[in-house]
Amino acid sequence: MTLRPWPVDLGPVVCVVGARPNFMKMAPILRAFAAHAPAIPTLLVHTGQHYDRDMSDRLFEDLCLPRPDINLDVGSASHAVQTAEVMRRFEPVLDEHRPACVLVVGDVNSTLACTLVAVKKGIPAVHVEAGLRSYDRGMPEEINRVLTDQVADRLYTTERSAGGNLAREGIPGERVAFVGNVMIDSLLFHRERSQAPAAVLEAAGFPPEIVASPSGYGVVTLHRPSNVDQRETLEPLLTVLRQVSEKLPLVFALHPRTRANIERFGLADLVATPRMAMLPPQGYLEMLGLMAGATVMLTDSGGLQEETTALGIPCLTVRENTERPITIEQGTNTLVGRDGAAILRGVDEILAGGGKRGRVPEYWDGRAAERIAADLCDWLLARRAGANP
Ligand code: UD1
Repeated sequence: MTLRPWPVDLGPVVCVVGARPNFMKMAPILRAFAAHAPAIPTLLVHTGQHYDRDMSDRLFEDLCLPRPDINLDVGSASHAVQTAEVMRRFEPVLDEHRPACVLVVGDVNSTLACTLVAVKKGIPAVHVEAGLRSYDRGMPEEINRVLTDQVADRLYTTERSAGGNLAREGIPGERVAFVGNVMIDSLLFHRERSQAPAAVLEAAGFPPEIVASPSGYGVVTLHRPSNVDQRETLEPLLTVLRQVSEKLPLVFALHPRTRANIERFGLADLVATPRMAMLPPQGYLEMLGLMAGATVMLTDSGGLQEETTALGIPCLTVRENTERPITIEQGTNTLVGRDGAAILRGVDEILAGGGKRGRVPEYWDGRAAERIAADLCDWLLARRAGANP
């Protein structure tokens, strides 16, 4: 790949992060921009959508992310208020710094809010992880994905199916570039530093006989509103997890939303068993270690479906759909929905035969961020020269 120098008069790239799944996507992009010769200037803006130490600062440390240049401190609120507040506080940043473009990642409320502000001011918006679709408009993230992609100027995709989704929505192919998966850049970069699972399991209070159990352990994360916000969905899910834990000890890394709902609905007794460790949200290196040593992952997270595919660890996704179909077609992922029988059957199959083998998808090779840096430079130069819109 030939690298073109960043024109000094172009201004910085404003890089936006807001919530936990953004951090592991942005870290390799900032590294690639810094390594570009000469370095691409950046301004890191944290909207403050996630603010707890466990959900934010700790991940910055684990991922070696620089401290944000600006923190908008928006915090938690309804979707409307949170999105509006990010927009209101982000606009003056663009007025002051006059960036070359705004770069957003993923599908959280901050992603859409900052894209809207940029494009309405005539500043190009660049979306990393574009084109993923669950075709489930009940998911807040799906609305964020569709709207961000419609108005952003440059779209970077992680799998080829995403380009097809964008084409069907009428987005011209010239706006799209398939670069691979920056989340896997982070995974490969930090893999060596990940924590030994035994240390995390012992710290979680599992007795040594469980830590050394031949069937291993499973890792659980659940945080989608559709799974955890109503008692009628959360209670049966926790009941199934307890049944699973009788076959395989489980480590449950609890999102604050899930922890709060377990308490609110009085369900703590359901998960009070020595075979299930209820942990706070884990650091990046701990989660990576836990995942790499797991027999199975049970999750409703998007990122974990991809990370388990990259690591070759079987994943049972507690959702009816996924916006990341390549993890099913090529990877180790299986959709089990909220069906208790399907979850138990999935675990049994994995315990009996090891589960899906899978392979690592194209361009999930640790170099996606480098491709973005090279393409962004070319694209902005061509845009300035009037060669593209
Ligand atoms: C957000 C993203 C979701 C992503 C998830 C990862 C949207 C629409 N959703 O969902 O795509 O998968 O992050 O975690 O952007 N809270 C804390 N501390 C925090 C942050 C949140 O306690 O640092 C609690 C608050 O009670 C808050 C709730 O968690 O109301 C939900 O937080 P919010 O940012 O609204 O959405 P997430 O469920 O985290």
